Amino acid sequence: MNIAVLGAQWGDEGKGKIVDLLTPNFSVVCRYQGGHNAGHTVYANGRKFVLRLLPSGILHDGITCVIGNGVVVDPQALFAEIDEVSAAGVRIGDRLIISDKAHLILPYHRELDLLSEARRGERKIGTTSRGIGPAYEDKIARRGVRVGDLANREALREAVEHNVAARNRIIGDTTMDPRRVLDELQAAWERMSPWVTDVSLFLARARAVGRPIMFEGAQGTLLDIDHGTYPYVTSSNATVGGVCTGLGVPPRAIDGVLGVAKAYTTRVGEGPLPSELTGELGNRLRESGQEFGAVTGRPRRCGWYDAVAVRYAVRINGLDALALTKLDVLDGLPELQVCTSYRIRGASLTEMPGDVAQLAACEPVYETIAGWTSPTAGVRRYEELPREARAYVSRLEEITGVPAAIISTGSAREDTIIRQGSVAAKWFAP
Ligand code: IMP
Repeated sequence: MNIAVLGAQWGDEGKGKIVDLLTPNFSVVCRYQGGHNAGHTVYANGRKFVLRLLPSGILHDGITCVIGNGVVVDPQALFAEIDEVSAAGVRIGDRLIISDKAHLILPYHRELDLLSEARRGERKIGTTSRGIGPAYEDKIARRGVRVGDLANREALREAVEHNVAARNRIIGDTTMDPRRVLDELQAAWERMSPWVTDVSLFLARARAVGRPIMFEGAQGTLLDIDHGTYPYVTSSNATVGGVCTGLGVPPRAIDGVLGVAKAYTTRVGEGPLPSELTGELGNRLRESGQEFGAVTGRPRRCGWYDAVAVRYAVRINGLDALALTKLDVLDGLPELQVCTSYRIRGASLTEMPGDVAQLAACEPVYETIAGWTSPTAGVRRYEELPREARAYVSRLEEITGVPAAIISTGSAREDTIIRQGSVAAKWFAP
Protein backbone atom coordinates (compact mmCIF):
# COMPACT_ATOMS: atom_id res chain seq x y z
CA MET A 1 0.00 0.00 0.00
CA ASN A 2 1.55 3.27 -1.16
CA ILE A 3 0.04 6.64 -0.33
CA ALA A 4 0.65 10.27 -1.15
CA VAL A 5 0.35 12.85 1.63
CA LEU A 6 0.11 16.38 0.27
CA GLY A 7 -1.06 19.89 1.04
CA ALA A 8 -4.69 20.75 0.32
CA GLN A 9 -4.27 24.50 0.91
CA TRP A 10 -1.42 27.03 0.54
CA GLY A 11 1.28 24.99 2.29
CA ASP A 12 2.13 24.85 5.99
CA GLU A 13 -0.81 22.52 6.63
CA GLY A 14 1.16 20.33 9.04
CA LYS A 15 2.26 17.67 6.55
CA GLY A 16 5.46 17.01 8.51
CA LYS A 17 3.58 15.86 11.60
CA ILE A 18 1.21 13.67 9.59
CA VAL A 19 3.99 12.04 7.56
CA ASP A 20 5.98 11.44 10.73
CA LEU A 21 2.93 9.92 12.41
CA LEU A 22 2.22 7.53 9.55
CA THR A 23 5.84 6.61 8.89
CA PRO A 24 5.91 3.49 11.12
CA ASN A 25 3.45 1.91 8.68
CA PHE A 26 5.75 2.49 5.73
CA SER A 27 9.20 1.42 4.65
CA VAL A 28 10.16 4.21 2.26
CA VAL A 29 9.30 7.94 2.40
CA CYS A 30 9.92 10.08 -0.70
CA ARG A 31 9.99 13.78 -1.44
CA TYR A 32 8.94 14.38 -5.05
CA GLN A 33 9.16 18.16 -5.56
CA GLY A 34 10.20 21.47 -4.04
CA GLY A 35 13.40 22.05 -2.18
CA HIS A 36 14.48 23.67 1.06
CA ASN A 37 11.70 26.23 0.69
CA ALA A 38 9.69 23.60 2.58
CA GLY A 39 9.80 23.53 6.37
CA HIS A 40 8.20 20.42 7.78
CA THR A 41 8.02 20.73 11.52
CA VAL A 42 8.10 17.51 13.50
CA TYR A 43 8.17 17.16 17.28
CA ALA A 44 9.86 13.93 18.26
CA ASN A 45 11.62 12.68 21.38
CA GLY A 46 10.86 15.98 23.10
CA ARG A 47 12.60 17.98 20.37
CA LYS A 48 11.49 20.16 17.51
CA PHE A 49 12.92 19.38 14.07
CA VAL A 50 12.32 21.51 10.99
CA LEU A 51 12.97 19.28 7.97
CA ARG A 52 13.50 21.11 4.72
CA LEU A 53 14.89 18.67 2.19
CA LEU A 54 15.07 15.43 4.08
CA PRO A 55 11.79 13.51 3.98
CA SER A 56 9.97 13.62 7.31
CA GLY A 57 10.48 9.85 7.69
CA ILE A 58 14.16 10.44 8.47
CA LEU A 59 13.56 10.57 12.22
CA HIS A 60 12.53 6.88 12.24
CA ASP A 61 15.29 4.33 12.25
CA GLY A 62 15.09 1.76 9.45
CA ILE A 63 13.09 3.94 7.05
CA THR A 64 14.63 4.69 3.66
CA CYS A 65 14.21 8.32 2.64
CA VAL A 66 14.24 9.33 -1.01
CA ILE A 67 14.86 12.69 -2.66
CA GLY A 68 13.37 12.40 -6.14
CA ASN A 69 14.34 13.92 -9.46
CA GLY A 70 11.53 16.49 -9.08
CA VAL A 71 13.26 18.02 -6.05
CA VAL A 72 15.81 20.84 -6.40
CA VAL A 73 18.76 20.23 -4.11
CA ASP A 74 21.00 22.85 -2.55
CA PRO A 75 23.96 20.70 -1.44
CA GLN A 76 24.96 23.06 1.38
CA ALA A 77 21.42 23.15 2.73
CA LEU A 78 21.24 19.37 2.52
CA PHE A 79 24.50 18.90 4.41
CA ALA A 80 23.51 21.43 7.07
CA GLU A 81 20.31 19.49 7.63
CA ILE A 82 22.07 16.13 7.71
CA ASP A 83 24.53 17.52 10.28
CA GLU A 84 21.68 18.91 12.35
CA VAL A 85 19.69 15.68 12.58
CA SER A 86 22.86 13.61 13.01
CA ALA A 87 23.88 15.79 15.96
CA ALA A 88 20.48 14.99 17.48
CA GLY A 89 21.32 11.28 17.29
CA VAL A 90 19.52 10.40 14.05
CA ARG A 91 21.52 7.81 12.13
CA ILE A 92 21.37 8.35 8.39
CA GLY A 93 23.94 5.91 6.99
CA ASP A 94 22.53 4.28 3.88
CA ARG A 95 18.93 5.33 4.63
CA LEU A 96 19.14 8.26 2.23
CA ILE A 97 18.68 7.94 -1.54
CA ILE A 98 19.12 10.91 -3.86
CA SER A 99 18.14 10.91 -7.54
CA ASP A 100 20.95 11.44 -10.01
CA LYS A 101 18.39 13.40 -12.04
CA ALA A 102 17.54 15.94 -9.32
CA HIS A 103 18.58 19.45 -10.28
CA LEU A 104 20.95 21.47 -8.14
CA ILE A 105 20.38 24.88 -6.63
CA LEU A 106 23.64 26.75 -7.17
CA PRO A 107 24.82 29.98 -5.54
CA TYR A 108 23.71 32.09 -8.52
CA HIS A 109 20.16 30.79 -8.20
CA ARG A 110 19.83 32.38 -4.79
CA GLU A 111 21.09 35.70 -6.15
CA LEU A 112 18.75 35.53 -9.14
CA ASP A 113 15.79 34.78 -6.88
CA LEU A 114 16.45 37.98 -4.90
CA LEU A 115 17.03 40.00 -8.05
CA SER A 116 13.89 38.75 -9.73
CA GLU A 117 11.83 39.64 -6.67
CA ALA A 118 13.39 43.11 -6.47
CA ARG A 119 12.66 43.71 -10.16
CA ARG A 120 9.04 42.67 -9.80
CA GLY A 121 8.55 45.43 -7.23
CA GLU A 122 4.92 45.55 -6.17
CA ARG A 123 4.21 42.39 -8.16
CA LYS A 124 6.70 40.36 -6.16
CA ILE A 125 5.78 36.75 -5.35
CA GLY A 126 7.12 36.81 -1.80
CA THR A 127 9.38 33.79 -2.41
CA THR A 128 11.44 32.12 0.27
CA SER A 129 14.62 33.46 -1.49
CA ARG A 130 16.15 30.01 -1.59
CA GLY A 131 16.80 30.01 -5.35
CA ILE A 132 13.97 27.58 -6.00
CA GLY A 133 12.39 29.36 -8.98
CA PRO A 134 15.67 30.09 -10.84
CA ALA A 135 16.81 26.46 -10.37
CA TYR A 136 13.58 25.19 -11.93
CA GLU A 137 13.92 27.84 -14.66
CA ASP A 138 17.31 26.40 -15.59
CA LYS A 139 15.85 22.90 -15.55
CA ILE A 140 13.08 23.82 -17.98
CA ALA A 141 15.49 25.84 -20.14
CA ARG A 142 17.66 22.69 -20.34
CA ARG A 143 20.76 24.32 -18.95
CA GLY A 144 20.43 23.04 -15.38
CA VAL A 145 23.04 21.02 -13.53
CA ARG A 146 21.86 17.69 -12.18
CA VAL A 147 23.21 15.75 -9.23
CA GLY A 148 24.58 13.07 -11.58
CA ASP A 149 26.52 15.72 -13.52
CA LEU A 150 28.76 16.20 -10.51
CA ALA A 151 30.53 12.97 -11.41
CA ASN A 152 31.83 14.43 -14.67
CA ARG A 153 34.19 17.28 -13.85
CA GLU A 154 34.81 18.39 -17.44
CA ALA A 155 31.15 18.63 -18.44
CA LEU A 156 30.41 20.24 -15.08
CA ARG A 157 33.08 22.88 -15.63
CA GLU A 158 31.56 23.80 -18.98
CA ALA A 159 28.06 24.05 -17.57
CA VAL A 160 29.12 26.09 -14.53
CA GLU A 161 31.23 28.49 -16.60
CA HIS A 162 28.37 29.00 -19.03
CA ASN A 163 25.84 29.56 -16.27
CA VAL A 164 28.05 31.88 -14.21
CA ALA A 165 28.71 33.96 -17.36
CA ALA A 166 24.93 34.21 -17.87
CA ARG A 167 24.57 35.20 -14.22
CA ASN A 168 27.21 37.91 -14.67
CA ARG A 169 25.35 39.36 -17.64
CA ILE A 170 22.06 39.46 -15.71
CA ILE A 171 23.48 40.80 -12.45
CA GLY A 172 25.99 43.07 -14.14
CA ASP A 173 29.11 42.15 -12.16
CA THR A 174 31.79 39.48 -12.21
CA THR A 175 32.11 38.81 -8.49
CA MET A 176 31.21 35.14 -8.73
CA ASP A 177 34.22 32.98 -9.44
CA PRO A 178 33.23 29.83 -11.38
CA ARG A 179 36.28 27.99 -10.01
CA ARG A 180 35.04 28.43 -6.47
CA VAL A 181 31.62 27.15 -7.48
CA LEU A 182 33.28 24.14 -9.12
CA ASP A 183 35.44 23.38 -6.07
CA GLU A 184 32.41 23.57 -3.85
CA LEU A 185 30.53 21.18 -6.12
CA GLN A 186 33.47 18.80 -6.25
CA ALA A 187 33.49 18.65 -2.45
CA ALA A 188 29.71 18.23 -2.44
CA TRP A 189 29.98 15.25 -4.79
CA GLU A 190 32.49 13.53 -2.55
CA ARG A 191 30.06 13.70 0.33
CA MET A 192 26.88 13.06 -1.60
CA SER A 193 27.85 10.36 -4.09
CA PRO A 194 27.27 7.31 -1.83
CA TRP A 195 23.59 8.28 -1.66
CA VAL A 196 23.06 8.98 -5.36
CA THR A 197 21.24 6.43 -7.49
CA ASP A 198 18.48 5.80 -10.03
CA VAL A 199 15.42 6.52 -7.87
CA SER A 200 12.84 5.19 -10.29
CA LEU A 201 14.64 1.85 -10.41
CA PHE A 202 15.07 1.80 -6.64
CA LEU A 203 11.35 2.40 -6.14
CA ALA A 204 10.36 -0.22 -8.73
CA ARG A 205 12.43 -2.78 -6.86
CA ALA A 206 11.05 -1.65 -3.51
CA ARG A 207 7.53 -2.10 -4.84
CA ALA A 208 8.37 -5.49 -6.31
CA VAL A 209 9.26 -6.79 -2.85
CA GLY A 210 6.20 -5.16 -1.30
CA ARG A 211 7.83 -2.34 0.65
CA PRO A 212 5.08 0.22 1.41
CA ILE A 213 5.94 3.71 0.19
CA MET A 214 4.77 7.14 1.27
CA PHE A 215 5.06 10.09 -1.10
CA GLU A 216 5.45 13.35 0.80
CA GLY A 217 4.37 16.57 -0.89
CA ALA A 218 5.80 19.97 -0.08
CA GLN A 219 3.95 23.32 -0.29
CA GLY A 220 0.29 22.84 -1.23
CA THR A 221 -2.25 22.50 -4.02
CA LEU A 222 -2.88 26.25 -4.28
CA LEU A 223 0.87 26.84 -4.63
CA ASP A 224 1.21 24.33 -7.50
CA ILE A 225 2.87 25.83 -10.60
CA ASP A 226 -0.01 24.69 -12.85
CA HIS A 227 -3.03 24.43 -10.58
CA GLY A 228 -2.25 27.06 -7.97
CA THR A 229 -2.95 30.78 -7.89
CA TYR A 230 -0.46 31.53 -10.68
CA PRO A 231 1.81 33.52 -10.69
CA TYR A 232 1.71 33.55 -6.86
CA VAL A 233 2.88 29.97 -6.66
CA THR A 234 6.02 27.93 -6.22
CA SER A 235 7.80 26.49 -9.28
CA SER A 236 6.92 22.81 -8.99
CA ASN A 237 3.93 20.45 -9.04
CA ALA A 238 2.90 20.03 -5.43
CA THR A 239 -0.23 18.18 -6.55
CA VAL A 240 -0.46 14.43 -7.03
CA GLY A 241 0.82 14.42 -10.63
CA GLY A 242 4.18 15.51 -9.23
CA VAL A 243 4.56 12.10 -7.60
CA CYS A 244 4.83 10.35 -10.98
CA THR A 245 7.02 12.91 -12.70
CA GLY A 246 9.10 13.70 -9.63
CA LEU A 247 10.03 10.11 -8.82
CA GLY A 248 9.54 8.11 -11.98
CA VAL A 249 6.71 5.97 -10.61
CA PRO A 250 3.56 5.02 -12.54
CA PRO A 251 0.14 6.37 -11.43
CA ARG A 252 -0.97 2.91 -10.37
CA ALA A 253 1.77 2.92 -7.76
CA ILE A 254 -0.37 5.40 -5.79
CA ASP A 255 -3.03 3.51 -3.85
CA GLY A 256 -4.40 6.42 -1.88
CA VAL A 257 -4.12 10.16 -1.49
CA LEU A 258 -4.37 11.94 1.84
CA GLY A 259 -4.77 15.71 1.79
CA VAL A 260 -3.62 17.73 4.78
CA ALA A 261 -5.63 20.85 5.62
CA LYS A 262 -5.69 23.14 8.62
CA ALA A 263 -9.01 23.72 10.36
CA TYR A 264 -8.59 27.31 9.12
CA THR A 265 -6.47 28.83 6.31
CA THR A 266 -3.02 30.37 6.11
CA ARG A 267 -0.78 31.67 3.39
CA VAL A 268 2.72 33.10 3.45
CA GLY A 269 3.86 35.35 0.63
CA GLU A 270 1.80 37.39 -1.80
CA GLY A 271 -1.32 36.50 -3.78
CA PRO A 272 -5.07 36.41 -3.12
CA LEU A 273 -6.55 34.75 -0.05
CA PRO A 274 -10.32 35.28 -0.13
CA SER A 275 -11.04 34.27 3.47
CA GLU A 276 -8.18 36.33 4.96
CA LEU A 277 -8.77 37.99 8.32
CA THR A 278 -6.72 41.13 8.64
CA GLY A 279 -7.97 42.42 11.99
CA GLU A 280 -8.02 41.20 15.56
CA LEU A 281 -9.24 37.72 14.65
CA GLY A 282 -6.41 37.23 12.17
CA ASN A 283 -3.92 38.17 14.90
CA ARG A 284 -5.63 35.80 17.31
CA LEU A 285 -5.23 32.87 14.88
CA ARG A 286 -1.63 33.83 14.12
CA GLU A 287 -0.69 33.99 17.78
CA SER A 288 -2.46 30.88 18.98
CA GLY A 289 -1.52 28.90 15.87
CA GLN A 290 2.09 30.13 16.00
CA GLU A 291 1.70 31.05 12.37
CA PHE A 292 5.18 32.19 11.50
CA GLY A 293 7.07 30.62 8.57
CA ALA A 294 9.14 27.57 9.59
CA VAL A 295 11.82 28.54 7.05
CA THR A 296 11.73 32.33 6.84
CA GLY A 297 10.01 33.28 10.12
CA ARG A 298 7.59 35.50 8.18
CA PRO A 299 4.16 36.00 9.78
CA ARG A 300 1.58 33.94 7.92
CA ARG A 301 -1.65 35.49 6.72
CA CYS A 302 -4.57 33.79 8.45
CA GLY A 303 -8.22 33.33 7.61
CA TRP A 304 -11.27 31.12 7.96
CA TYR A 305 -11.45 27.65 6.44
CA ASP A 306 -11.92 28.05 2.70
CA ALA A 307 -13.97 25.06 1.58
CA VAL A 308 -13.90 26.21 -2.06
CA ALA A 309 -10.11 25.87 -2.02
CA VAL A 310 -10.14 22.51 -0.23
CA ARG A 311 -12.85 21.13 -2.55
CA TYR A 312 -10.60 22.15 -5.42
CA ALA A 313 -7.72 20.22 -3.83
CA VAL A 314 -10.03 17.21 -3.49
CA ARG A 315 -10.78 17.35 -7.21
CA ILE A 316 -7.25 17.99 -8.48
CA ASN A 317 -5.65 15.30 -6.32
CA GLY A 318 -8.50 12.80 -6.01
CA LEU A 319 -8.20 12.99 -2.23
CA ASP A 320 -9.53 9.93 -0.41
CA ALA A 321 -9.48 11.64 2.95
CA LEU A 322 -8.23 14.66 4.82
CA ALA A 323 -6.01 15.05 7.83
CA LEU A 324 -7.48 18.09 9.56
CA THR A 325 -4.80 19.83 11.60
CA LYS A 326 -4.67 22.48 14.33
CA LEU A 327 -8.29 22.10 15.37
CA ASP A 328 -7.22 23.22 18.86
CA VAL A 329 -6.24 26.66 17.54
CA LEU A 330 -9.98 27.38 17.19
CA ASP A 331 -10.61 26.55 20.86
CA GLY A 332 -12.51 29.30 22.67
CA LEU A 333 -13.80 31.18 19.64
CA PRO A 334 -17.53 31.82 20.16
CA GLU A 335 -18.36 31.25 16.53
CA LEU A 336 -16.58 30.15 13.39
CA GLN A 337 -17.05 30.94 9.73
CA VAL A 338 -16.53 28.58 6.84
CA CYS A 339 -16.21 29.98 3.34
CA THR A 340 -18.56 27.85 1.25
CA SER A 341 -18.55 29.86 -2.00
CA TYR A 342 -17.34 33.14 -3.45
CA ARG A 343 -19.28 36.11 -4.69
CA ILE A 344 -17.98 38.05 -7.65
CA ARG A 345 -19.77 41.05 -9.15
CA GLY A 346 -23.04 39.83 -7.67
CA ALA A 347 -22.71 36.27 -9.00
CA SER A 348 -22.06 33.18 -6.91
CA LEU A 349 -19.02 31.04 -7.64
CA THR A 350 -18.68 27.58 -6.14
CA GLU A 351 -15.50 26.58 -7.98
CA MET A 352 -12.01 28.05 -7.78
CA PRO A 353 -11.47 30.51 -10.65
CA GLY A 354 -8.40 29.87 -12.81
CA ASP A 355 -7.53 33.54 -13.12
CA VAL A 356 -5.79 35.20 -10.21
CA ALA A 357 -7.33 38.63 -10.86
CA GLN A 358 -10.75 37.04 -10.71
CA LEU A 359 -9.87 35.28 -7.46
CA ALA A 360 -8.63 38.57 -6.03
CA ALA A 361 -12.01 40.12 -6.81
CA CYS A 362 -13.91 37.31 -5.03
CA GLU A 363 -15.65 37.95 -1.73
CA PRO A 364 -16.05 35.00 0.60
CA VAL A 365 -19.56 33.79 1.38
CA TYR A 366 -19.62 32.41 4.90
CA GLU A 367 -21.64 29.91 6.82
CA THR A 368 -21.58 30.50 10.57
CA ILE A 369 -20.95 27.55 12.84
CA ALA A 370 -21.00 27.55 16.65
CA GLY A 371 -17.64 27.43 18.42
CA TRP A 372 -16.82 25.39 21.53
CA THR A 373 -15.83 26.36 25.03
CA SER A 374 -14.11 23.25 26.38
CA PRO A 375 -10.70 22.67 24.79
CA THR A 376 -9.92 20.21 22.04
CA ALA A 377 -6.17 20.60 22.67
CA GLY A 378 -4.59 17.21 23.27
CA VAL A 379 -7.84 15.25 22.73
CA ARG A 380 -7.03 11.81 21.29
CA ARG A 381 -10.47 10.24 20.84
CA TYR A 382 -13.12 11.60 18.54
CA GLU A 383 -15.91 10.98 21.06
CA GLU A 384 -14.07 13.20 23.54
CA LEU A 385 -14.20 16.26 21.33
CA PRO A 386 -16.79 18.85 22.38
CA ARG A 387 -20.07 18.33 20.53
CA GLU A 388 -19.68 21.62 18.63
CA ALA A 389 -16.19 20.64 17.46
CA ARG A 390 -17.57 17.36 16.13
CA ALA A 391 -20.32 19.31 14.37
CA TYR A 392 -17.68 21.60 12.83
CA VAL A 393 -15.67 18.62 11.54
CA SER A 394 -18.84 16.94 10.19
CA ARG A 395 -19.84 20.09 8.37
CA LEU A 396 -16.39 20.40 6.77
CA GLU A 397 -16.65 16.77 5.69
CA GLU A 398 -20.05 17.45 4.14
CA ILE A 399 -18.94 20.56 2.27
CA THR A 400 -15.67 19.10 0.99
CA GLY A 401 -17.06 15.64 0.30
CA VAL A 402 -14.22 13.74 1.98
CA PRO A 403 -13.87 12.28 5.46
CA ALA A 404 -11.50 13.77 8.02
CA ALA A 405 -9.67 10.52 8.71
CA ILE A 406 -7.12 12.16 11.01
CA ILE A 407 -7.64 15.13 13.31
CA SER A 408 -4.66 16.80 14.90
CA THR A 409 -5.17 18.54 18.24
CA GLY A 410 -1.62 19.54 19.13
CA SER A 411 1.93 19.48 17.86
CA ALA A 412 3.02 16.22 19.51
CA ARG A 413 2.64 12.92 17.65
CA GLU A 414 0.30 11.67 20.36
CA ASP A 415 -2.09 14.62 20.09
CA THR A 416 -3.91 13.03 17.21
CA ILE A 417 -7.26 11.40 16.58
CA ILE A 418 -7.25 8.59 14.05
CA ARG A 419 -10.85 7.96 13.07
CA GLN A 420 -11.84 4.35 13.37
CA GLY A 421 -13.64 2.93 10.37
CA SER A 422 -12.60 5.77 8.07
CA VAL A 423 -11.78 4.91 4.44
CA ALA A 424 -8.16 5.47 5.28
CA ALA A 425 -8.11 3.33 8.43
CA LYS A 426 -6.11 0.65 6.64
CA TRP A 427 -3.22 3.10 6.25
CA PHE A 428 -3.00 3.56 9.98
CA ALA A 429 -2.89 -0.02 11.16
CA PRO A 430 -0.97 0.07 14.45
P1 IMP B 1 9.39 29.85 -3.65
O1 IMP B 1 8.94 28.44 -3.57
O2 IMP B 1 10.50 30.19 -2.69
O3 IMP B 1 9.72 30.27 -5.06
O4 IMP B 1 8.16 30.78 -3.20
C1 IMP B 1 6.98 30.91 -3.99
C2 IMP B 1 5.75 31.04 -3.10
O5 IMP B 1 5.53 29.80 -2.43
C3 IMP B 1 5.86 32.08 -1.99
O6 IMP B 1 4.58 32.62 -1.77
C4 IMP B 1 6.28 31.30 -0.79
O7 IMP B 1 5.93 31.92 0.41
C5 IMP B 1 5.49 30.02 -1.02
N1 IMP B 1 6.10 28.85 -0.39
C6 IMP B 1 7.18 28.15 -0.82
N2 IMP B 1 7.43 27.12 -0.01
C7 IMP B 1 6.49 27.15 0.94
C8 IMP B 1 6.20 26.29 2.04
O8 IMP B 1 6.85 25.29 2.29
N3 IMP B 1 5.11 26.64 2.79
C9 IMP B 1 4.35 27.72 2.49
N4 IMP B 1 4.58 28.54 1.47
C10 IMP B 1 5.63 28.24 0.69
